[in-house]
Amino acid sequence: MFNSIARNYDFLNHFLSFGIDIYWRKRLIAVLKRHKPKQVVDIATGTADLAIMAAKSSSMKITGVDFSEKMIAAGRKKLVVRKLENQVKLEIGDAENLKHDDNMFDAGMVAFGIRNFENLEKGLTEIRRVLKNGAPLFILEFSQPTAFPVKQLYRFYSYYFLPFIGRFVSKHRRAYSYLPESITDFISGEKMIGILEGCGYSQCYYKTFTFGIATLYVAHKNEKVWQ
Ligand SMILES: C[S@@+](CC[C@H](N)C(=O)[O-])C[C@H]1O[C@@H](n2cnc3c(N)ncnc32)[C@H](O)[C@@H]1O
Repeated sequence: MFNSIARNYDFLNHFLSFGIDIYWRKRLIAVLKRHKPKQVVDIATGTADLAIMAAKSSSMKITGVDFSEKMIAAGRKKLVVRKLENQVKLEIGDAENLKHDDNMFDAGMVAFGIRNFENLEKGLTEIRRVLKNGAPLFILEFSQPTAFPVKQLYRFYSYYFLPFIGRFVSKHRRAYSYLPESITDFISGEKMIGILEGCGYSQCYYKTFTFGIATLYVAHKNEKVWQ
């Protein structure tokens, strides 16, 4: 699915979110930078938007991983234009089966990617494996607003407006109706914290943005060995 929407992905991403996704990403980068990481892994990097934003904000080296060849190809083009090829490396790979050695990265991040993992726990455990002890993982993911009338407006927007525009621009029949369905079906808040803790992360917390439309989770790889 991501291969077939890669060409229009960036445009639709910013257009359909009215550019608010840029603000959410900036918030993630602001917390990431406090940790002064040298080596960062950006899982489900897509067209490398988050990796590029992180690279522009400091000298950290970023490895972006995604299993969609076309998303990675689009990301590589952006790196050339921005002359960031030496700072950001993009690799084709599966988040649930990473090629990297244990304890390699000072921080990890995933923006709007974990919702698509086939096996969430497997992906989170695998990411934990490649992080150094104590390293933070930042996850940005859609969630659902609960307050009236934002909940109702958002539901209308995501089930009617978004699939219509998405289908029109991307010409993909399912991709943009899959999006709201995947958000509705996906866990968030305390449930996600429980899953992170179950996968061996500690000092986990979350912060919601824009009436709860997005949530930033922060978790740390602790030094305890988990079975
Ligand atoms: C909604 S896009 C997000 C891309 C990017 N992080 C962003 O913020 O724009 C989700 C991405 O996750 C990737 N993805 C989903 N599951 C994956 C997995 N198991 N391993 C690697 N990439 C995955 C998809 O190929 C897609 O590029």
